Parts: sequence; C-alpha cells; structure tokens
Amino acid sequence: MRATAIAHTNLALVKYWGKRNKELNLPAVGSISVTLKDLFTQTTICFKKELRQDVLYLNGSIADASPQKRVSHFLDVVRRKTGINAYAEVKSRNNFPTASGLASSASGFAALAVAACRAANLDLNPTELSVLARQASGSAARSIFGGFVEMQVGNRKDGSDAHATPVTDEKFWPLHILVAITSGPEKEMGSTDAMTLTAWSSPFFRKWLETSHQDLADMRFAILQRNLEKVGEIAEHNCFKMHALTMTSRPALLYWNGTTVNIMLAIRRLRRQGIPVYFSIDAGSHVMAICTPEASQKIRHVLEQVDGVSRVLITSPGPAAHIVEN
Ligand code: PMV
Repeated sequence: MRATAIAHTNLALVKYWGKRNKELNLPAVGSISVTLKDLFTQTTICFKKELRQDVLYLNGSIADASPQKRVSHFLDVVRRKTGINAYAEVKSRNNFPTASGLASSASGFAALAVAACRAANLDLNPTELSVLARQASGSAARSIFGGFVEMQVGNRKDGSDAHATPVTDEKFWPLHILVAITSGPEKEMGSTDAMTLTAWSSPFFRKWLETSHQDLADMRFAILQRNLEKVGEIAEHNCFKMHALTMTSRPALLYWNGTTVNIMLAIRRLRRQGIPVYFSIDAGSHVMAICTPEASQKIRHVLEQVDGVSRVLITSPGPAAHIVEN
C-alpha cells in the first residue's frame, strides 16, 4: 500500500492548448514535448486505513486546498479502478524551485500516477498510465515517457486513445535545454481556466486547431532528422501562436513580463551571431531555450546577464517516470 516514484517535467515544443472534453480532460490538439532530465518530482504515497481524508504534503509542508482537491479527485479515479477504499498520505517534492512558478503539474501527476498504481497493486502499462495521468493534467500524460514524446489527440469518446507515445528515447539526440527563470509575480491564470477562456473568446482559436496537424507532422519529422534549426523554428512559431491566443482572449491574458521579452531578444541576437538557439514559453514568464551542448555555456552566460533573470538551469532529454522503491 506504499510506493515511491519519480517523474520528470517536460517542455512542450508543440503545445497542448484547448480541451475537447473538460470532464475527461481530453485535449483538442496533439502535442510534442521533450522530457527534462534534471527537473523532477519524487512522490511517495501510502494508503492508510486510519486516515479520514487524503493528505498532500508539497515540499515538506501541508498543501493548500486547491492542490489537495486535485490530488484527491485523481486518487478517486484510482480507488474506483481498484476498489480500494482507504485514503492516502501523499508526500511530493520537486527538485526544482517551485516558488519560481515552473510548472510542476506534469511531473507531479505523472509521479503520482505511477506511485499510486504501484501502491494500489494496479498493474498498468505505460500507455494506460499515460491515459490515467492525462485525467489529472494533459502535460502529465507526456511525462510518463522519456526522450521526445507525442501526445495523441485521440478520437474516442472515452479518451482511451488520448495518451502519449514515445517519438525517440532520451539518448537519440543529446540536445541541451536551458531554463531561464524570471523573477516576478506568479502567473495570472491556471491553464484549465485559460484554455476555456481562449477557446470561446479568441478569434484565432479555430486557426489554432486547423494548423495543429501540420505543426505536429513537421516537428516529428524534424526531431527524427535531428534538425535543430527546423525544430526551433516550429517551436517558436507554435509558442507564439499559443500566446497569441491568450493575448487575444477577452479579457486578455499576458503571461510574459519584461524579462521574458528581453530573453527572447537576447536569444534572437545570439542567433544573428551564428549560435543556433531557439526559445519556447509555457503558460508563465520563464523561457526555455534549446541548443547544442557546445553552445549551452555561452548562452547561459548571456541569459544570466539579462535584467530580471534569477537563475539559468541547463538540462538535457531525460528518462521515463519510474518506481524508485516500494
Ligand atoms: O497540463 P496542463 O493542464 O498544466 O497544461 C499545460 C499547458 C502548457 O504547458 C502551456 C502547454 C503544454 O503542452 O505543456
């Protein structure tokens, strides 16, 4: 009834944005990401007869009501599948700075899915684990796998074909990924509410759906060709398209701050100097950059000089979610 798992967070190169079913958390578009080696969540779960409710500890402190509720809701799915009727104690730790606002739902819910299934003696294969993790967070479905990963949009009503699949493993292409953390306030709206808002109020949402297949096909091909220029070009285009949705919703959502813009400008300047480096930004103000291992130290140095950057991490493609002990 107890298990510990690790799952790594991921960077979406072609982004998931929009839901076709909110209850089952089914995506409106597919997505492609790279799992990140050095940013992970370790989660221990223990089902205990004496507990009167689920309890979540995040980085050593009891969590707020909202994450508690999300975790409990997810554990209800596991309980329904297994017939377990005990509540659980969940202890989750991120090895990356959580207060910075870096997304932790991908690694958090992937680790929870893997640990909860082991503790509940529910033997699921990675595809089934991905379907399960998706119900808590769309990006968590991708963190079940390592390397480059594609989330299938699926078309079944029950969501059984809306899961991630591996594109290549983490050894296929030793790229470097930089994470430039900007100081400043937390993001203004969580992804679920923001997706709903943009879907009904941005005039560009329909185009976003229409162009998603092409971005996915081009990205898949570029990854398999190890073509950094192409991967970077598609990633930046897709990132701007997603942010254009949030900026053109009513009311408008702006996830960037001044530092975000200055980092993008610095990256474009580096590119003009002949250094192959490309950026992507999720629903927040931090900037991720992809580049060759040879160029990463120089790029880190440049990004550290940008006013408002509090820290720059360097990582590379990382492994699948896994059990560490039980
Ligand atoms: O998995 P969620 O519900 O936190 O949504 C993730 C949304 C983005 O991070 C902006 C894009 C993505 O594909 O990860």
